[in-house]
Amino acid sequence: MAKSTLSFVCQNCGAAYNRWQGKCESCGEWNTLAEEDTTGSVPVSIRSKRRGRTFALESLTGKSNDAPRLSSGMTELDRVTGGGFVRGSVLLVGGDPGIGKSTLLTQATSMLARAGHRAVYISGEEAVAQVRLRAERLGLADAPVQLAAETSVEDIVSTLSEGAVPRLIVIDSIQTMWTDTVESAPGTVTQVRASAQALIRFAKKSGAAIILVGHVTKDGQIAGPRVVEHMVDAVLSFEGEGSQQFRILRAVKNRFGPTDEIGVFEMTGLGLREVSNPSELFLSERDLGSPGTAVFAGIEGTRPVLVELQALVAPTTLGTPRRAVVGWDPSRLSMVLAVLEAHCGVKLSGYDVYLNVAGGLRIQEPAADLAAAAALVSSLVNAPLPTDAVYFGEISLSGAVRPVAQTSARLKEAAKLGFGRAVLPESARGEVGSDGGLTLNTVGGLTSLVAEIAARGSPRNGGAGNREASREGVTEKNATPARFRRENS
Ligand code: TYD
Ligand code: MG
Repeated sequence: MAKSTLSFVCQNCGAAYNRWQGKCESCGEWNTLAEEDTTGSVPVSIRSKRRGRTFALESLTGKSNDAPRLSSGMTELDRVTGGGFVRGSVLLVGGDPGIGKSTLLTQATSMLARAGHRAVYISGEEAVAQVRLRAERLGLADAPVQLAAETSVEDIVSTLSEGAVPRLIVIDSIQTMWTDTVESAPGTVTQVRASAQALIRFAKKSGAAIILVGHVTKDGQIAGPRVVEHMVDAVLSFEGEGSQQFRILRAVKNRFGPTDEIGVFEMTGLGLREVSNPSELFLSERDLGSPGTAVFAGIEGTRPVLVELQALVAPTTLGTPRRAVVGWDPSRLSMVLAVLEAHCGVKLSGYDVYLNVAGGLRIQEPAADLAAAAALVSSLVNAPLPTDAVYFGEISLSGAVRPVAQTSARLKEAAKLGFGRAVLPESARGEVGSDGGLTLNTVGGLTSLVAEIAARGSPRNGGAGNREASREGVTEKNATPARFRRENS
């Protein structure tokens, strides 16, 4: 009989220790060590003295078939996976509870089953009746999906080995699965890792594509072991604000496709609806004509996406003013604020600054710098930006506005959605192919843009602007462009 080995395993990163300690030295988290029985986690074959068999080595230039893909029937899902599920591959889908993972995967399995493929949905969290109820609500109850509520990996593998090989198997969720080969409780790192290993082995051997659903911890990582992320072929993250209808599926890792594509969905009473033109959706609830908003012409993967940036700059009562940002990189905001202070004479140290990307989108491009700066200054001087303008460009530490990739794609999308002008880096002018009839407003440095917005702000200090100014928490004195002290003026 195998000797029983107890060890303390970090539930965050999977590092193992032979005594308990408060802090995991590997990932730095506190109180994450739990006692686990790791008996049997080293397969007997590794410990045995068997001589290895020989295998043929191949050259790089050999002929291989393209990864055979299976379209899910949902364009947005296919876009993120890189064109469909690859045979024998394993995908991990993570996301907050209630974000719609089970809904998305019920829809995907139903589409495949309706197209005549064998699709299996194994739920470890919900009873068969609950899954059926959801399918009914989605209008998919007639799809020939094979359904079970099971948690034993060995039972699942033996059941699915019989009959035709399933084209897609959904395991909802990996945290509820357990295998006989290890002794730890379900949900622990050792169990999750061993269960995932067994399922991945089955996928590679049989050629079935498997989707594992994974829970997300409060700081956004897929709960349990990060090691599962390394074991699978692709990791998709399903995101969205609870209060918003939009859901964004993003590839975090993909061995068979790009990782910068996003899929956009809208949660409706009848399940997830695919959104093929995200810009229209993100701009649908625009607050036209209010100060502090700027439309950013961005690129997500291969697709241009227009989205509104909202800024609020308000006098602070705190010693250290607050800087809060949703949907963008906080260090990027700090940099833009520093450049505004250092090169454009905009004093922001007495103000709280809030920046929000509308619609729950998360922007990663530095191209959003210019739109963020425009929104911030617009809020500070209480002057709305032109409602028909889009902004894009990267700001360098010297205050120069630098060109960004795919200028013409951004302009084309803006023109398509009815915008009349674009504010963009001066050096990008050469790249502009067809601008679709947009008025191009090029800026070489941030100073000139700030001066232009500040000039728009001045007439509001006279009469009509006052009421709005106090509503925004910006006093009349604050709203005068006199604060734009230029060092040389
Ligand atoms: P679910 O797929 O169960 O989330 P997860 O598996 O990620 O935990 O989705 C749960 C939420 O989605 C729930 O709050 C209700 C909502 N929902 C709809 O709005 N419309 C629908 O058609 C369905 C099925 C769910
Ligand atoms: Mg679920």
